[in-house]
Order: sequence, then structure tokens, then C-alpha cells
Amino acid sequence: MHSSLGTVMTTADTLKSKLADNSFVIGIIGLGYVGLPLAHAFHQAGLRVVGFDIDPSKITALAKGENYLKHLGGEMVTSLSTSARFCATADFTRLAEPDAIIICVPTPLGAHREPDLSYVVGSGRDIGRTLRAGQLIVLESTTYPGTTRGDLLPAMLAAIPAGVAKPELGRDFFVAFSPEREDPGRKTHNTKSTPKLVGGLDAVSTELATLLYQKAIQHVVTVSSAEVAEAAKILENTFRAVNIAMVNELKVLLTEMGIDVWEVIDAAATKPFGFMPFYPGPGLGGHCIPIDPFYLTWKAREVGRPTRFIELAGEVNHGMPDYVVARTTSALNDRCKSVKNSRILILGLAYKPDIDDVRESPSFELIEKFRDLGAHVDYNDPLVPRTHQMRKYDLRMESVSLTPSSLASYDAVVISTNHTAYDWQQIADSAPLIIDTRNALRRITGRRDHVVSA
Ligand SMILES: NC(=O)c1ccc[n+]([C@@H]2O[C@H](COP(=O)([O-])OP(=O)(O)OC[C@H]3O[C@@H](n4cnc5c(N)ncnc54)[C@H](O)[C@@H]3O)[C@@H](O)[C@H]2O)c1
Repeated sequence: MHSSLGTVMTTADTLKSKLADNSFVIGIIGLGYVGLPLAHAFHQAGLRVVGFDIDPSKITALAKGENYLKHLGGEMVTSLSTSARFCATADFTRLAEPDAIIICVPTPLGAHREPDLSYVVGSGRDIGRTLRAGQLIVLESTTYPGTTRGDLLPAMLAAIPAGVAKPELGRDFFVAFSPEREDPGRKTHNTKSTPKLVGGLDAVSTELATLLYQKAIQHVVTVSSAEVAEAAKILENTFRAVNIAMVNELKVLLTEMGIDVWEVIDAAATKPFGFMPFYPGPGLGGHCIPIDPFYLTWKAREVGRPTRFIELAGEVNHGMPDYVVARTTSALNDRCKSVKNSRILILGLAYKPDIDDVRESPSFELIEKFRDLGAHVDYNDPLVPRTHQMRKYDLRMESVSLTPSSLASYDAVVISTNHTAYDWQQIADSAPLIIDTRNALRRITGRRDHVVSA
């Protein structure tokens, strides 16, 4: 291709000029917690966005302007669904349209805690089938170092139809990794204001992906390779998993010693350097922290190295629901009651406050464990009116209403998630026994002899 100046314009130059004049089209595969806010951020930056998802209910919801991720607020979906610069589709042959395709599909663990890259590889195949010169592909899903080069790229290339010339990476098409750092429910940062790491499979891919994200994200940090960007994301999540495990272990110890771990953490956090507070809880939840470090553990076996911190943190964090059950059992016992035939209410099904995401939430484990011991278990969550089928659980439960009399009817109320919508004073005034795993009742007034921290 020749520019008006008569110089040869490369495929990369064409993409840069499209980015500069906003004629660049973005495709986003996976319109969930990560993909939807990202689509919104690029749309807000003035680009045309095509969203792809295999879930027809999301495509329909976006067409109708219905918000399916409550914590994001209704405006996000409305602004997309009413715009001529956005559409959502399940027609993957349209993957030939966008100049950049960003992959935001799940990366769960399999039945034996091995990485399940089937969604990423499936997206790679979808892209490969229609890959055209001048496309930039970016993987955002969290995964072990080496996935973009060793799994995604081969899947794409293998899917290119027979008879179509194989394109050259870095000249005809471009591939990069840019980890998502979405933290649903966080008010201080959003997709636009959270710095974004970018690392490509080659220098041109890195440069193009950096320019792409600079359209929508305030601060883009370029690293030397996709592998560095992949490893940085796993480091971030491992750092959290290990530190949470440490305070969970300290919680058990300090509780035994009659010392309030929450007060200890707050006291230590007054040090203005060299300390960062992490808080204990009923276990780990969400799509990231309980899962991502084990992607690295699996990969580490390839080079014959152990990941002892990750394994130990997993062991401690996985033990927390059992600790909560033991504390509840003991508190009931003190009141001459058994768990068997007790009525237990779990407060909060989501894995963290003020969102409706229940993936890997320890509340499910608590419900299952109390039921196994013969208790009758209900839950209340203002953001999760009913349970839906998940990979491990299909509880078919509905959130019960929360009134002073309903609270009084339970033998034990277990605070699993501290949603801000809860009226803690009313809960403390009404429930006969409360197991508080979140220090939610720290500000209540009046008696506390019916509150057990766990
Ligand atoms: N949720 C978070 O807070 C968060 C934060 C950082 C990173 N991540 C990572 O981002 C990735 C996506 O997570 P998420 O929370 O957005 O997941 P999600 O389940 O909310 O969304 C994934 C979407 O992808 C769709 N999908 C699945 N397979 C598909 C396919 N083959 N083609 C098209 N669409 C497909 C699903 O229908 C769903 O809508 C994961 O790797 C996760 O670890 C998530």
C-alpha cells in the first residue's frame, strides 16, 4: 500500500492511522465482568465496538438495554445498546470485521485443578478461521506465562482454512497479552483509570497494542514480552492469595490467644511504609485469587520447580470454611444445641461485598458443610435473589427475607459477606447468635456476648 507521500505503508502503519482517525474497529470476545466494561471504555473513546459472546441471553440483553451485571450500573449497557457504534453478536464469522480482537473469556480450573484453556483455545480457533491481514489479537484472560505464544497463537494458525496463505506474525497480523485488572465493586478505580500492562509476541505487536489501549486507558505500561505481562498478572494474584492466607492463619492463632486480629491489622496498618493490610475471611472467592495461582503451579511442573507458597496459601485458605463451621458448632454447643436440626442463616452469597458475583464463593461451601451436618440452611443476599446452576453447585435456593422476627428464628446467623446494604445493628439486635467472619459488627452498640468472630 502506498501513502500520499509515495512511501510504502505497512499493515502496521494502516492500523496506526486508523487508530489516529478513530476508524479502527474493536472486537471483544466474552462480554462478562471483564469484556463488558472494556467494550464500554473503548466505545467511550469514540471507537466502533463489536461484542461477541456464545451466551445468547447476553446478546439479547444488550440489544434490549438490559443490565445483566448490576454492579456496573444501568448507564453502561444503555449507552452501548443505544449507540450506532456498538453491536453484540453470536455470529463469529463477523470476527473478520474488527481491526483488533480482544479475548476476555473464562480461564477456570478443571476437575483436577489443572488449567482449562478450552475457552481461550476455542477463541483462537474462531479467530483463525477468519483471520485477515491487519488484525491485532490481544488476550486478556488470566493464564500462565507462555499461553499467548504457546497455546493461543498455534490454535489460531491451525484454524486458518486450507488454501489460505499463512500470514506472518509481526508483519501481517499482530498478537499481544494485556492482563485484565478489573476489580468489580471497587469505587476508587475503573477500567479507564487502572494502569494497563501490555506485552506483545514481537516489537510491532507490542507497539500496536500499546497504541490501542492508549485510546481508552489513562496509563499504559509496556513490558518487553507477552510472557512478562502474563507472569505479572499471576504475581499480582499470588501476592493476594499468600497474604490473605497469612492473615487467615494469624486469625486462627490470635483468636485462640484472645487477641482481636482485626484490631491487630488496623494497628499494624498505621505504619506508613513496609506494610499493606490484608483481611481474613471465610475463605477465598471469585474467578481470580482462588484459581489463577494454580495456573502457575501447573506450569511450574514443566520446569520441575515447586510453588510452595501457592500450595501452602491454598491449603490455609481452603481450610477457612471448616474453621467457620467449627466455630459455629462450638458456639451452638455452648448454648446446648447441635448443628443437626439447627436453623442456620448465611448472610451474603456473593464472594465479596456489593457485587452479585458468586463464583467460587465460600458461602456455598458453608451451606454444603452445614447441610452435611444436618442443619436446615437458608441464605439472604440482597444482590443474589436466587442461586443458578454452577460448575460445582446447583443449590436451587432463594434468598429469604430479612426481618427482626425472621432473624430471631435462626439458631445461628453466619455473616459470610459484608454487603453495605445490611443493617448490622438490626441484625445484632435480633439474631440470638451471630458468627462474624468479616468483622462486620465492629460498630454495633449494646451487648456482644452473642457475637462470635470466626
Ligand atoms: N471478574 C474479574 O474480576 C476478573 C478480574 C481480572 C481478570 N479476570 C479474568 O478475565 C477473564 C474473564 O473473566 P470474567 O470474569 O469476565 O468472566 P465472565 O464469565 O464474566 O465472562 C466471560 C464471558 O465469555 C463468554 N464466553 C465463554 N466462552 C466463549 C467463547 N468461546 N466465545 C465467546 N464468548 C465466550 C461467556 O458467555 C461470558 O459472557 C478470566 O480469565 C478471568 O480470570 C477476571
